[in-house]
Amino acid sequence: MPRTLFAVLATAVAAVSAQGATSPATGCAALTAPTVANATVLNIQAAARTAVPVRATNGTLASVSFCDVNVTLTHGTAGDRVRVQVWLPLNDDTTKWNGRFQATGGSGFEAGLFASALGPAVAGGYAAASTDAGVGITGSFPVQANTTSALTIQLLVNFASLSVHEMAVVGKALVQQLYGTAPVKSYFTGCSTGGRQGYMEAQRYPTDFDGILSASPAINWDRLLAAMLWPFSAIQQQFPSAAAGSTTGTVVPQCVLDAFQGGVVSACDALDGVKDGIVTQPGACSFDPTTLVGKGIACSAAQGGGKNATSVTITAADAAVFSKILAGPADPTGKSLWYGLLPGATPDLLASTSEAGTAPFSLAATWLNNFVLALNDPRSNFSSPASTLQLTRSARHRLSKKSADTTALANAQAFTNVFQQSQSMFDVIIGTDNPDLSAFQAAGGKLLSWHGLADQLVFPNGTLDYIQRTMDLMDASAVDDFFRVFVAPGVQHCGGGPGAAPSNPLTQLVQWVENGTAPDTLPAVKFTATAGVNSTASSANSTTPAVITRNLCRYPQMMVYAGSGDGSQADSWTCVAGPNQQVIEQTTPSETTPLVALTSGVEGRMVSLKSAVVAASAVAALLAVL
Ligand SMILES: *[C@@H]1O[C@H](CO)[C@@H](O)[C@H](O)[C@H]1NC(C)=O
Ligand SMILES: *[C@@H]1O[C@H](CO)[C@@H](O)[C@H](O)[C@H]1NC(C)=O
Ligand SMILES: *[C@@H]1O[C@H](CO)[C@@H](O)[C@H](O)[C@H]1NC(C)=O
Ligand SMILES: *[C@@H]1O[C@H](CO)[C@@H](O)[C@H](O)[C@H]1NC(C)=O
Ligand SMILES: *[C@@H]1O[C@H](CO)[C@@H](O)[C@H](O)[C@H]1NC(C)=O
Ligand SMILES: *[C@@H]1O[C@H](CO)[C@@H](O)[C@H](O)[C@H]1NC(C)=O
Ligand SMILES: *[C@@H]1O[C@H](CO)[C@@H](O)[C@H](O)[C@H]1NC(C)=O
Ligand SMILES: *[C@@H]1O[C@H](CO)[C@@H](O)[C@H](O)[C@H]1NC(C)=O
Ligand SMILES: *[C@@H]1O[C@H](CO)[C@@H](O)[C@H](O)[C@H]1NC(C)=O
Ligand SMILES: *[C@@H]1O[C@H](CO)[C@@H](O)[C@H](O)[C@H]1NC(C)=O
Repeated sequence: MPRTLFAVLATAVAAVSAQGATSPATGCAALTAPTVANATVLNIQAAARTAVPVRATNGTLASVSFCDVNVTLTHGTAGDRVRVQVWLPLNDDTTKWNGRFQATGGSGFEAGLFASALGPAVAGGYAAASTDAGVGITGSFPVQANTTSALTIQLLVNFASLSVHEMAVVGKALVQQLYGTAPVKSYFTGCSTGGRQGYMEAQRYPTDFDGILSASPAINWDRLLAAMLWPFSAIQQQFPSAAAGSTTGTVVPQCVLDAFQGGVVSACDALDGVKDGIVTQPGACSFDPTTLVGKGIACSAAQGGGKNATSVTITAADAAVFSKILAGPADPTGKSLWYGLLPGATPDLLASTSEAGTAPFSLAATWLNNFVLALNDPRSNFSSPASTLQLTRSARHRLSKKSADTTALANAQAFTNVFQQSQSMFDVIIGTDNPDLSAFQAAGGKLLSWHGLADQLVFPNGTLDYIQRTMDLMDASAVDDFFRVFVAPGVQHCGGGPGAAPSNPLTQLVQWVENGTAPDTLPAVKFTATAGVNSTASSANSTTPAVITRNLCRYPQMMVYAGSGDGSQADSWTCVAGPNQQVIEQTTPSETTPLVALTSGVEGRMVSLKSAVVAASAVAALLAVL
């Protein structure tokens, strides 16, 4: 830890003992509800917890003591119930507060991960917070037959942005109350949905956090979630009977997808000079799937080869599907709508095929059914199970007017309709893709981000597209002073895969914020398979030896092998200037006005929606459900 950082913390701790009239343990039970603008705090519960076992960031078990606080709040008459949970170190022998606040993010349709995110933060000395945004922790968005439209919109706004801000307000207020001093610095950490929440904060609430650590961010949400449906659409385009529930057997069996994946790795692994299963520069990989057409491969029934199968022959239709998955979504004229998976990313999650039929990725199917196809129709009752792609009658009717096909994703035109509808309705609320970070820059914030190039869910190019647009807007070297995106070759969504993932990026962010030391590269490590049991990049058992180390390069640089030396070791690789990627043209304006400054009730929402600078169709669609 840098010397200046110690000095800052020593000051903070001195302030605590000077001002704190009571010990945190005593003060815990006496905490009172904080004030949250534009919201009503319904209740606060607080209790001291001691000797709670948690897993530290480095994977070891720790025993911690903290003040456990739940704050429940609601907005106007919407009827939402948002739970913010805050864990504040008790400053006893086991758990010393480090003077900082850390808000933590969520995953998928969950806004927060609670104990699994709070535990490591508190073990590291942080006062930490998590929120459920009122959408709960069930992994899907609770759009129900009997929920009101006002509630549905409020939950969407909470999940998109408002609840992260309110978590910051609540967390900082409780820190002030318990310790008698504000946090020295405030941080946000998250991956995937959590990554998106971090970028959202930099865009919309630029003064909430001094430092934001956002991995594999699900930004561009409206386009990303639609594009996640593209592999399923590609299968349907090639095999018209392949919809969920079809009884015609497996199309593009998993063993065939595995064979294409193997083809990518054998064609492109060694292009970087080291054969290690990692495709370091996926942009240089030009694997042609048709080279495998006619090849017979071993394929058991369990691998999707069909009943009794021992082998299957790869077809041209299989190759066409795989090509489409890598190319990403396109409209009927072939114009690119969004990015695809990079070569080296496994397609099995987005192109999930089995004998029971093929299903779209569940998160994206929930988005399609509960929001894109349902929310702009007030008569929709949202009762359809997310996984079956059953449309309401009215939604089917609406789609049929635009497309000859009544199946939502059956052809490129139908897919394009869904994609554009998702974008025109929801970019304004949850796109999280506004490249203007000037307010965050002015506030002195730092945004440290990384993305695995073998991410099999969130397309890495969406993140590179974002920082490139920020650089185009704000000047590249100015951006480099406060926003850096590091790419991790061979790393999957939030970790895993053959590549090395950042080993301790939060420490580097803290040094950037508090010591002014900007990270030139991000040290990364891939542990042995044994260490990988329960471990992600950030929670690996650090006592087991690393098999691969890397110093990750930041966009627009790329990593190249020096040509000699142990390819598993970081110092055999360097960062060089990379080619700028092509940025996909924006077709609708990004959000420029926060939609989240809602006054209470439906009227307040209508006022702020109307005053926002958004596509007219988006406003009309949203007002239609109020
Ligand atoms: C802190 O910053 C100084 C320069 O400002 C730098 O020399 C030093 O290496 C930094 N310390 C750490 C631990 O990063
Ligand atoms: C806060 O809520 C969580 C989840 O319901 C619960 O486990 C915890 O005990 C609550 N904490 C307090 C202090 O009531
Ligand atoms: C880490 O792994 C080593 C070797 O498998 C094991 O001996 C050790 O107990 C582990 N430590 C923790 C804290 O899990
Ligand atoms: C792991 O982290 C905990 C909490 O920060 C710390 O006390 C412990 O010394 C660390 N262990 C190792 C092996 O780094
Ligand atoms: C909504 O429906 C669920 C399940 O049928 C029920 O448990 C719940 O009480 C209902 N909520 C309201 C507000 O009516
Ligand atoms: C996507 O990113 C990769 C890796 O940086 C790059 O090589 C490729 O050109 C990008 N693709 C597009 C379409 O921009
Ligand atoms: C699979 O094998 C079983 C038992 O040998 C047989 O009854 C069945 O007809 C076979 N099915 C197919 C599709 O060949
Ligand atoms: C809700 O939709 C389902 C499926 O479309 C339909 O079966 C059901 O009757 C609808 N319920 C109401 C109350 O409209
Ligand atoms: C891995 O996780 C499982 C389930 O949570 C647990 O039972 C097991 O003890 C963990 N193993 C290690 C080495 O931490
Ligand atoms: C509360 O809502 C009003 C009206 O929309 C808005 O102007 C104000 O900025 C909000 N306050 C905060 C602290 O969010």
